[in-house]
Amino acid sequence: KQLQDEIEALKASTKEEVEELRIKYISKKGLVGQLFADFKTVPAEQKKAVGQAINVLKNKALDKINELKDSFDNADQGDAATDLSMPGEPMRLGTRHPLAIVRNEIIEIFGRLGFTVAEGPEIEDDWHVFSALNFPPEHPARDMQDTFFIQKDPDVLLRTHTSSVQARVMEKTQPPIRAIFPGRVFRNEAISARAHCIFHQIEGLYVDENVSFADLKQTLLYFSRELFGEKTQIRLRPSYFPFTEPSAEMDVSCSICGGKGCNVCKYTGWLEILGCGMVDPNVLDLCGIDSKKYTGFAFGMGIERITMLKYGIKDIRHFFENDVRFLRQFESAY
Ligand code: PHE
Repeated sequence: KQLQDEIEALKASTKEEVEELRIKYISKKGLVGQLFADFKTVPAEQKKAVGQAINVLKNKALDKINELKDSFDNADQGDAATDLSMPGEPMRLGTRHPLAIVRNEIIEIFGRLGFTVAEGPEIEDDWHVFSALNFPPEHPARDMQDTFFIQKDPDVLLRTHTSSVQARVMEKTQPPIRAIFPGRVFRNEAISARAHCIFHQIEGLYVDENVSFADLKQTLLYFSRELFGEKTQIRLRPSYFPFTEPSAEMDVSCSICGGKGCNVCKYTGWLEILGCGMVDPNVLDLCGIDSKKYTGFAFGMGIERITMLKYGIKDIRHFFENDVRFLRQFESAY
């Protein structure tokens, strides 16, 4: 009876274990086989009953072992309804974020002109974001309105532009410098379809002997035609930044309507995409570069804005919501 319960409860997790169980119970020297050997010693009048019981036990053991064996054989073959020649479930790949696609494209275009890539910290100090860039102490851009300060300390802040990396690179490197600086920037602004408190910029800096405004203009023309198409025109309008002199803002002819006028360019034919200028000699000196020997140009552009213009995206918030229905539309863009 005890042996019968034991056999009923048998379990195995591999084919090899089933084989071990077969040997243990029903081989000649196994536990059940042994009973047959002992059968000789059973008194004659009990032989019939005991013989039947042993046979029942032996059949139970055989059934159990075969059942265990079958369960593994079936698992090997799959059930009859499964067609093993069917192709697998397709695995959906992720897609690159549109901002990353455009950033990489910009890096690649400037790479062809010999610009390398550098990065700086997002958490900055006043010196690299403002003072070294010739911001006067009372300049409105330092105002609490625009800048996120950390821990109420006016010297720990989130950078409001990637121009801070200009200062860091110039402090560490003597000319020739030719590099771009992609990264996240932060401004304390109300979030809307056109503005966000977190966005991305790419900064460019070229410092060497005899760098001129003509070099800046040609570099930006080449860049604009590579990014928006060879028919693209550019237009520089005078502007002001504390760290460049002279300064300009650059427009490109609208790539959506070809300059004819549409709702993307507000029927002007032009789109503003970046700020630029000749590095102010004060900035060179503040960062340890001899302004009598060297000149340079710098520019800075917003990646969101350029991506919106390039792909006709109407709301900047799409970039930060990670809705796959939006993101999957860029599946084939790189
Ligand atoms: N840092 C400026 C901005 O965020 C852009 C800029 C960069 C302008 C370099 C001139 C030179 O608006």
